[in-house]
Order: sequence, then structure tokens, then C-alpha cells
Amino acid sequence: MAKLINGKEISAQIRAELAEETKAFIAETGITPGLAVIIVGDNPASQVYVRNKRRACEEIGYYSEAYELPTETTQEELMALVRRLNGEEKIHGILVQLPLPKHLDEHEVLLAIDPKKDVDAFHPTNVGHIMIGDYAYLPCTPAGVMALLEKSGISPAGKEVVVVGRSNIVGKPQAMLMLHQNATVTVCHSRTVDLPAVCRRADILVAAIGKADFFTAEYIKEGAVVIDVGMNRRADGKLTGDVDFASVEPKASYITPVPGGVGPMTITMLMKNTLTAARLAAAKK
Ligand code: GUN
Repeated sequence: MAKLINGKEISAQIRAELAEETKAFIAETGITPGLAVIIVGDNPASQVYVRNKRRACEEIGYYSEAYELPTETTQEELMALVRRLNGEEKIHGILVQLPLPKHLDEHEVLLAIDPKKDVDAFHPTNVGHIMIGDYAYLPCTPAGVMALLEKSGISPAGKEVVVVGRSNIVGKPQAMLMLHQNATVTVCHSRTVDLPAVCRRADILVAAIGKADFFTAEYIKEGAVVIDVGMNRRADGKLTGDVDFASVEPKASYITPVPGGVGPMTITMLMKNTLTAARLAAAKK
């Protein structure tokens, strides 16, 4: 029987701490942290994320702006909005929800965000800071995973960590954060030979490939910590992770559920970055 890592509970605890810190910060500086979220098109999953981000801002005491733009928004219009927000004093963090509709150049948009306001840590400047281990902004989902481990008393130091997935949002920065904490890290992907055998080496397995219920017991070493970053919709509309929970849970020592595991932590880390952004802006005044 695995212990459940409760992301909802850990997230609520961190958000309560952030709300306290924010109150003190506002009292001290007169600055209310401000986050702008931009979403283009009508991807239902993205709309849910944006709604949750706005709710989290209200709960913690931030100022927030949400821009819900139509699918046919042009590159120039989106770039103009990002540039305007770069210059807005009350906005400390800018987030452009991904994926963008196909006709838009994602890379150009992310490059246009002022790295000081890049609370997603997607700008190459911030990616570089993460690479060398000297960073203000945490990549949200991987940092959420690290916080879950820390709050559960699990140290990656000296452990075999296997990250499955090599995206810029999760897999690559996740590997880097694990390395910074002295894990021995393997990154797997679609061309990995004998994926189950590599995964069975893992003391800590991070599943981030976006395939519903893909990881079954044959991928798991007895007693492994299993972190499920997946968020997939089953045909019946139910949310499910990359891990086949029923098959894996009896073999794992700790496991994150979906929903209620990594998911809530991503927004919590975004909130943390937004306060960091406001602090950096205040320090420059
Ligand atoms: N789409 C899926 N995850 C994320 C995220 O963490 N940030 C942004 N901007 N878009 C996403």
C-alpha cells in the first residue's frame, strides 16, 4: 500500500503561507503583486487553468488581469499586448497560456516577455538561469514536484530518478532540478529502448508523457516513489494521469493521485513566482 501524496493539502498550506507573506509585503511596500494571464482561443482545458489561476490570485490577495482573446488573434496583436504589459507598473508577472493556436509563433511570443516578468520561467534567459542553478523563478510544474517531495520528507539526493518526457515545460527542467538536488538522473522519451527496464531502475519515477494510464506495474520497482504529472481525459470525460493508479499503487511506497497531486502545485508555484516578481520590482525602486 502506497502513501498518498496529497497535492491539494500541501498546496493549500503553501498558499496560506503565501497569503501571509503577501499581506506583510503589501503593508511594507504598498505594492500589490499583479499577474496578467493571456489565453488565445477556446481550448477548454486552458480555460479551466485560467479560471483556477484567477481564483488563486484572489485567494492570496494579488491583483490579476485575464485576457481571453479570440482564436483569430494575429501575431502582431498578441505581441502588442505582451509589450504593453511589459511596461505596466502594476503587472509583475505575465503568463501566456500554452499551447497557442497553430498560426501563432509561440517562441517569438515567449521571447517578447520581459524575463523579469516571466513567471512561467519559459524565456531562454530564465531557462539558462535554471540550467546553472542560479534562478529567481521556478519552472512551475517541476518546482511543484520538488515541493511535494520535500513536504513528504523524500530527498532525491543519491537516488536514481527517472524522468519520462523531455518537454521544455516539464521533462527538461525537472531533470535539472533533480540534478541540483544531487539525484542520479535519467531522462527517457519515445526513442528510449526498453522503457519498462529503465523505469524499473527508478527510486523516484516522474511520468510526464501525456498518455492516459500508460505506466503499469511492470514499469515500477518495488517501493518506488511515483509522481504522475499527466492530465489526460478518458473517453468517459474523467481526468486521469499517465500512471495506471490501480496497477501501480500496491507496488509504490508513495504515489501522487490525479486529480489532486501535481496539478494544484503548478498554480501554487506560479503564485510563488508572482510574489517573487513583485519583490524584485520593489527592490529596484
Ligand atoms: N500549458 C500547460 N502547462 C502550462 C504552464 O505551466 N504554463 C503555461 N503558460 N502554459 C501551460
